[in-house]
Amino acid sequence: MNEKSGERAAVAAGDASHPLGPFPRRPFPRREFIGRAGALAVAWSGAAQAGAPRDEMRRGMLEAIADTTARTAASTGVEAIDPEVMTALDRVPRHEFVPTEIAELAYENRPLPIGHGQTISQPYIVALMTHLLALAPHHRVLEIGTGSGYQAAVLAELVDSVRTIEIVPPLARQAAERLPRLGYDNVEAGLGDGYYGWPEAAPFQAIIVTAAASHVPPPLVAQLAPDGVLVIPVGERFSVQMLLLVRKRADGEVSVRQVLPVRFVPLTGGPR
Ligand SMILES: C[S@@+](CC[C@H](N)C(=O)[O-])C[C@H]1O[C@@H](n2cnc3c(N)ncnc32)[C@H](O)[C@@H]1O
Repeated sequence: MNEKSGERAAVAAGDASHPLGPFPRRPFPRREFIGRAGALAVAWSGAAQAGAPRDEMRRGMLEAIADTTARTAASTGVEAIDPEVMTALDRVPRHEFVPTEIAELAYENRPLPIGHGQTISQPYIVALMTHLLALAPHHRVLEIGTGSGYQAAVLAELVDSVRTIEIVPPLARQAAERLPRLGYDNVEAGLGDGYYGWPEAAPFQAIIVTAAASHVPPPLVAQLAPDGVLVIPVGERFSVQMLLLVRKRADGEVSVRQVLPVRFVPLTGGPR
């Protein structure tokens, strides 16, 4: 599975006639609005709030990300993470997004439990997926799988407008409280089934799915803007999945590139 990646054949335009089938009716309320505010108001100052040891730990995390990126370059085609993404990772206080009992582990380059059987992703994976989105400040971004809100905060450092959806109510509520408290007022957090995206806010220049799906959800492809990209792990539950980079061309044609074998918690919801 560790083969070198390359652009794969086009599969289809992402609309209701997608070969994966028409959009199914959903048995779950799509989304309940639970949080929002305006522009990013307060930049978190690591030095002021956490002290030097935490700054050092975060620098260590960035070094580990750079090292893992270099070691996986043959598979991902990514030799180094965009410096703006690295700056975003340097600014986000990851220790605020994990349970206090394990805050001292927050800057290790590994996933950590966040309760309800869910995890905050490994920093390297957050860096790689964010890099693959190739964000510009004006991009509208949708994240599926809010979890702790950490990935949303990283995105919010890079673009003006982020929407994020979580299916587990306590996690959704926690993130909707945490993000504005930390100054991430440009994130709109919703509770619901992210399989169906956020059609009222579409199109998105970038969509990131942080849970493993059995297939690329057609509603997400449909909600991509022309030239938009979708990064998503696809494969069997509780197994190794493949991180895919899906690109929708201006003419609506969709291409898929395999990036890296990964392991994510499953995307629940979707058609049954
Ligand atoms: C690996 S965790 C995400 C980590 C998160 N991005 C962070 O920064 O902490 C995956 C998350 O996806 C959520 N999830 C699973 N299926 C979902 C769905 N259909 N819609 C929205 N969220 C979903 C899980 O509840 C879990 O919180």
